[in-house]
Amino acid sequence: INTLLICGGGGSEHQVSLRTADFIERQLCELEEVALERVEMDGNGRLTDRHGQVRRLDQDRMLRDENGGAWEVHYVIPAIHGYPGETGDLQSLLDLFGIPYYGCGPEASKICFNKVTTKLWLSALGIDNTPYQYLSSREPEELAKASMALEEWGQVFVKASNQGSSVGCYKVSSTQELDRALEQAFALSPYVLVEKCLKVRELEVAVYPYEGKLVITPPGEVCAPAGSFYSYEEKYSDASRAVTHVEAPGLSEAQVSWIHEAARRAFVGLQLKDLSRIDFFLTESGEIYLNEVNTFPGMTSISMFPKMMAHAGHDFRRYMANLIRAAVN
Ligand code: ADP
Ligand code: DAL
Ligand code: MG
Repeated sequence: INTLLICGGGGSEHQVSLRTADFIERQLCELEEVALERVEMDGNGRLTDRHGQVRRLDQDRMLRDENGGAWEVHYVIPAIHGYPGETGDLQSLLDLFGIPYYGCGPEASKICFNKVTTKLWLSALGIDNTPYQYLSSREPEELAKASMALEEWGQVFVKASNQGSSVGCYKVSSTQELDRALEQAFALSPYVLVEKCLKVRELEVAVYPYEGKLVITPPGEVCAPAGSFYSYEEKYSDASRAVTHVEAPGLSEAQVSWIHEAARRAFVGLQLKDLSRIDFFLTESGEIYLNEVNTFPGMTSISMFPKMMAHAGHDFRRYMANLIRAAVN
């Protein structure tokens, strides 16, 4: 089965995506029935293979090179965090070309990548999410909403709605910090959120089909260092002080089942497919909020999706082999 792994993309998580693709490549190269070709996409949608040759994916499902060579693509793995993969744009093109692929379709991807639409859908599904204000522009009346939110909540998170890996996400405690954070967030996105900062534990579940059943793993936990948050540096730099647990200690049965029920409702209600990592906040007073739904979670060495799957006793290779087989048959 000729499988095209596309990584990179035009977003701020280009480098993270290469690390995710490394993991997938290592796993899939051991599957006999899969012939894998890896291409990296740049910010203009141009594809380059591992030899630096430019390649092009055509409507007739052929991956062409500049010397007239062509390779028929049976299945695509769009391992791109952010634009144009996790945003669903690439999936629209693949639907148009009739090529099956790993992961969610265009609609679910788009809804979940945008932090504002995610919240609207979560509310529509009756799933609690963090209190927030939405700013549609930098007009004074919109900016006033941010100042009022800071005054009311004391500390807030300002977030560009269209980023991941904590890019465009700022913890704010003063009006000076607020001005700067809003400027930076609006430079990245026309849609900006100001969220109540919660003193939290961060819990995550991996959700995926395995042997015909939808699996929701026990909640794992990421612990950012005290006084900080789970920022880009804490996620990926060698100096990270973040600690992760494949299974969060000390949760009650009721908390785990609340999280499982919310994750199931989100996965089914948003019509997700093949994979997602759904992240929650547990507050000091015991409230649980769904923070976000990642339709193409990271698979780097720190990332929780593959670790939680392994902890649940499931084999990534077998999981992928089943999905690929089912999609091309
Ligand atoms: P991303 O999609 O970039 O991962 P998140 O919404 O998950 O964005 O925010 C990144 C990190 O910022 C979270 O993992 C958490 O550490 C911190 N954070 C975000 N929102 C809040 C909040 N409302 N209260 C406390 N911490 C938060
Ligand atoms: N956006 C990153 C890759 C994640 O959520 O894992
Ligand atoms: Mg996150």
